[in-house]
Amino acid sequence: MPPIGETSELERINQVIAEYGNNQSALIPVLQQVQEVYHYLPEEILTYVATALNLSPATVYGVATFYAQFSLEAKGKHVVRVCDGTACHVRGSTPVLNAIRKKVGLTAGMKTTGDRQFTVETVSCLGACGLAPAVVIDDRIYGQMTPEAVSIVLDELMKEVD
Ligand code: FES
Repeated sequence: MPPIGETSELERINQVIAEYGNNQSALIPVLQQVQEVYHYLPEEILTYVATALNLSPATVYGVATFYAQFSLEAKGKHVVRVCDGTACHVRGSTPVLNAIRKKVGLTAGMKTTGDRQFTVETVSCLGACGLAPAVVIDDRIYGQMTPEAVSIVLDELMKEVD
């Protein structure tokens, strides 16, 4: 993840602004670009975007908080989303969630590991109820998860962690 405000990253954001024009219609594509670069929407960059697009900070924050695709919190390199919707819950999503949290070393109340490698979240339905219990890791879906199966998937990911 680049340092906030690094010139090359701001240039990428400026390019998107130039492409869409500095008006309100550019806001969502620009925020998508910011999120792609930083994996969340840093406060300093939101202020920058507001100024660049000639919008009030309140407007930018309003959009940033409205859409679930945007996050105002820093996330880990790998984002693990565990479904806790009804179908997944009755098929054992809680033990799967607990196994994931234990494996990556999250303590109560934490969503992101201290080394910023993993963020673990719960969602209400991934739209894959036939695969319950389902987990999405970095946009890849894993179905019929068990604590053992998800542990193997995480072992593979952890091998990549530097
Ligand atoms: S309830 Fe889990 S995918 Fe729908």
